[in-house]
Amino acid sequence: MKSIFGLLGHPVGHSMSPLIHNDAFISLGMEAEYHAFDVTPELLKEAVAGIRALGIIGCNVTVPHKVAVMKYLDEIDEQAQLIGAVNTIVNDNGRLIGYNTDGKGYVESLLELEPVLSEKRVLIIGAGGAARGIVTALLGRGIASLTITNRTIEKAKPFKKLAETFDTRTVLMTREEAESKAKEFDVIINTTSVGMSPHIEQSPFSLENISDHVVVSDLIYNPIETALLKDARKRGAKTLNGVGMFVNQAALSFEQWTGQKPNREKMKQLVLKQLG
Ligand code: ATR
Repeated sequence: MKSIFGLLGHPVGHSMSPLIHNDAFISLGMEAEYHAFDVTPELLKEAVAGIRALGIIGCNVTVPHKVAVMKYLDEIDEQAQLIGAVNTIVNDNGRLIGYNTDGKGYVESLLELEPVLSEKRVLIIGAGGAARGIVTALLGRGIASLTITNRTIEKAKPFKKLAETFDTRTVLMTREEAESKAKEFDVIINTTSVGMSPHIEQSPFSLENISDHVVVSDLIYNPIETALLKDARKRGAKTLNGVGMFVNQAALSFEQWTGQKPNREKMKQLVLKQLG
């Protein structure tokens, strides 16, 4: 009998997770299948009970369930607790354990472009769940400072507390202030949805004042090159899109469930082909 894996989200119609996980199962000769389950918020509790009842081995969790799912699990890993969100569930003989591979997946993709993160001055645009995952993964890397800018500055305040536990200097800035001081950052990361298809002309940040050695990064992968990244490339900055993060978080979930390493390069090629 095939082992079943899945994604809990709403909507899930455009998810590329089934494509890359099923291909990895076939490549590794595993008798397994991955399904995207469209679960409305009212039925999330039943869906999680279904993981136990049906013996589903592992799940990914995506928008809008990453926070709400936590209360239905038996155990939450330390990193996922710090982040306050879960994107991976492992069914350990009926005991459901929550993990978060988003931030680690992102940082692994950043390290491919910028192998040394220690002493880097990092600007994060946005203060939602995605930002929290990335900040948590970055804080263990010895970065010099963390600056957060968010449309609603109030929502950025909890990041100060998070960073203090790692002794990392953290500053909150308005967008205007961060834009005027842009040359003081070595890495700029957009974690908001501004610029995502279909609003591809929008940019969350002006790069007018950036330094010549900066890395500009966007978690968005549709479009592959956002308006922010296009602007950065034209100014000679190194750029990083969200494809690597998407692939790495999937690969890390796969490893957590199966103990096997999928071919990340093959996953990436499948995603790029799908995105056209
Ligand atoms: P995610 O899990 O993807 O981070 P989220 O927790 O809903 O999603 O956070 C979305 C982030 O994008 C927030 O920082 C949000 O800013 P607010 O806190 O002010 O809501 C930001 N965001 C979304 N749409 C935006 C827009 N049009 N302009 C600026 N920021 C936006």
